[in-house]
Amino acid sequence: MQGSGPPRATGILIVNTGSEYFAYQAQCPHEAVRLEDGIHDGSVLTCLEHLWQFDVRTGAPLGDAETGLSSYRLKEEEGALHVWIEGP
Ligand code: FES
Repeated sequence: MQGSGPPRATGILIVNTGSEYFAYQAQCPHEAVRLEDGIHDGSVLTCLEHLWQFDVRTGAPLGDAETGLSSYRLKEEEGALHVWIEGP
């Protein structure tokens, strides 16, 4: 897991790189803007609010981003995506 602590139950962002799926916190760690409104090119996810960037495969911060994304374990099986969310 990369990022700023345990995932919060505020939603999950599923990123499809075209060959793999990844699950992250749904909100930007900067100011809690929805990351689903951002863009990604298959390797870099960019929040459009202030342009913080994250590695799509790890959630690690890139460029000016000061913290990374919290991730969730995800498994693709028989056409379904399973995401593990740890309870309190
Ligand atoms: S809210 Fe995402 S970079 Fe500022």
